[in-house]
Amino acid sequence: MQSLTSFEIMPQAETLFSISGIYYLITLSVYLIGLISIVLFLHDNLKSLISISKAVLQPYFQPHLSQSLVDKFGKWAVITGATDGIGRGYAKELAKRGLNIVLISRTKEKLIATANEIENLYKTKTKWIVADFSKGKEIYEHIKQELLGIPVGILVNNVGRMYDYPDELCNQPEDLLWEIININIGAVTFMSRLVIPEMKKQRKGAIVNISSGSELQPTPLVAVYAATKRYIRSLSLAIECELYEHNITVQCVIPGFVVTKMNQFSETLLQGNYFTPPAETYARWAVFTLGKTKETTGYWTHAMVYCFIKLFPEWLRMRVGHFATKQFRTEYFISQAKRKIM
Ligand SMILES: NC(=O)c1ccc[n+]([C@@H]2O[C@H](COP(=O)([O-])OP(=O)(O)OC[C@H]3O[C@@H](n4cnc5c(N)ncnc54)[C@H](OP(=O)(O)O)[C@@H]3O)[C@@H](O)[C@H]2O)c1
Repeated sequence: MQSLTSFEIMPQAETLFSISGIYYLITLSVYLIGLISIVLFLHDNLKSLISISKAVLQPYFQPHLSQSLVDKFGKWAVITGATDGIGRGYAKELAKRGLNIVLISRTKEKLIATANEIENLYKTKTKWIVADFSKGKEIYEHIKQELLGIPVGILVNNVGRMYDYPDELCNQPEDLLWEIININIGAVTFMSRLVIPEMKKQRKGAIVNISSGSELQPTPLVAVYAATKRYIRSLSLAIECELYEHNITVQCVIPGFVVTKMNQFSETLLQGNYFTPPAETYARWAVFTLGKTKETTGYWTHAMVYCFIKLFPEWLRMRVGHFATKQFRTEYFISQAKRKIM
């Protein structure tokens, strides 16, 4: 009788053991996946902050290694879209740190005014080049000739074009879309290609590519702009690897909103706030990160927002992005209607 009972119990125990074993394995896997996700998330979001902190502390612990931007990268910086907004901020901030500046944009009068202001304020040399990046391939030979003999240490690929206001792809003029592609994709690619050989010879240099927070997910109503900014991040990370052995730094800067004329479609954005700084403040922070981290939002409140947004899945970020761009479009239409009435 007893042996019969144990005969009946044994298979039950085995079944129980195997069920609890499977349950244990599933739980362990879930824990492990959770742990790995948290570690990866923290690494992704904190790596920039850790690199910046290390660089800030370096002068105290390894004073012999600390260098100015001029020592680290060279004496000349080239900035595209340098007469307004973030580009102008970069030009002034780099000049303040002793670099000579080459300014590139479309309007001669604005170039001369900005160059004079920089020379008077910081006593560094300047040069300006008139070029319209929306024209595509034809402009680069002229820029190449103008840069002959200038040992470019830092290139800031800043110039960028957004829609005039958020709207669907089919409502955007064809010419504007070509402009956006030529400026946001073409300029970053071909300006980088133009300066890399000289940087390789010097065995030093930095390329700073200005992307945008809109690259974080596909963004409806600014679809092409956001896609081009995604391209910039992808290009930056890839050429960073290619150029590492040549001692050339490639930094991808991913700003959130900044008060500049690019955001003219929204009076709310133009007013600025804690999360939407003036261009000069933004550039001061962003230049501070140069040589310290390869990928950054460039500004501390933008870093907080970026980290928070990344907690959510892409589909949700897209919906929130769509909601926001719809609001901006409505705001733009209302302001246009008011203007017409006045
Ligand atoms: N503002 C933001 O909230 C924000 C957010 C994220 C990322 N970004 C990115 O930051 C970068 C700078 O934006 P921003 O807001 O500072 O721009 P911005 O204030 O509109 O200034 C644009 C600059 O580029 C020049 N420029 C415009 N079109 C040009 C062209 N076809 N060829 C040559 N130069 C041209 C302008 O001068 P001329 O008109 O005289 O040529 C001006 O100096 C862009 O890449 C943008 O996508 C901006």
